[in-house]
Amino acid sequence: MSDPQRDSTSPQEALDLVELHATAAREPVKLWLLGVIMAVMFVGGMFLWANSGGFSSSVYDPARLAAGKDNGAPKPAPDPRMLSRRLYMQNCGACHQPNGMGIPGTYPPLVGSEWVLGQEWHGDNHLVRVVLHGLQGPITVEGRSFNNVMTPWGGVLKDDQIAAILTYVRSEWGNSAPPISKEFVAQVREETRERRAAWTQKELQEIPRQVSPPPLPEPTPPPTSSPSPVQSPPAA
Ligand code: HEC
Repeated sequence: MSDPQRDSTSPQEALDLVELHATAAREPVKLWLLGVIMAVMFVGGMFLWANSGGFSSSVYDPARLAAGKDNGAPKPAPDPRMLSRRLYMQNCGACHQPNGMGIPGTYPPLVGSEWVLGQEWHGDNHLVRVVLHGLQGPITVEGRSFNNVMTPWGGVLKDDQIAAILTYVRSEWGNSAPPISKEFVAQVREETRERRAAWTQKELQEIPRQVSPPPLPEPTPPPTSSPSPVQSPPAA
């Protein structure tokens, strides 16, 4: 025979338990516990404030830390070639492609292009005009035909940016042509101030070709210790 008193929880005990839990739930949070939690949060906050380095990515950049670059020494000037490459990627690379090969039938190549290198009838002035105002209609590049539209960049890019991009495309991917100076870009911009429409190949062919003057010579370096075999004559 089973004894009801032996059951794990009698109805009376169950009632007591419910009552007990209800009492516990009504009890307010212990004040001392609240104080401890707040103290821990305060100390933790102070620690982060003092040691987070403003949560700047540079603080935790392991490469910089390893190179010891962040010790207050002046940063090295950015490589001008990297800046030119970035300008090219941002403004030209989408069509002419990062490798300068363009897209057959749609975007002409800059690699080996007589337009870029200033060969045949093409002059540096034509190249600058193409970038300033755009190009449209039938053209030939390296013997292949294109008939598309290139948007103008004169309103977006400054003279020195255009000079940097053109100097870059003339010396990248095996291209080898002298730099384009920003003074030359400024000169062509001035000559074509009234121009709004994109150029056509036919129009450009009628404009005599010009070459960008080489950049101004570096200031004369101080005399070196090794004697120069050639003595320059005294100035008149
Ligand atoms: C929206 C696409 C597009 C962008 C961006 C673009 N071009 Fe072009 N580019 C063209 C097209 C299309 C042509 C050919 C136009 C035609 O068929 O008349 C062309 C032609 C040229 C040419 C003459 C042909 C050749 O391949 O040598 C040069 C040089 C040139 N672009 C340079 C640039 C430079 C530099 C930039 C960046 C400042 C640039 N382009 C940005 C589409 C673009």
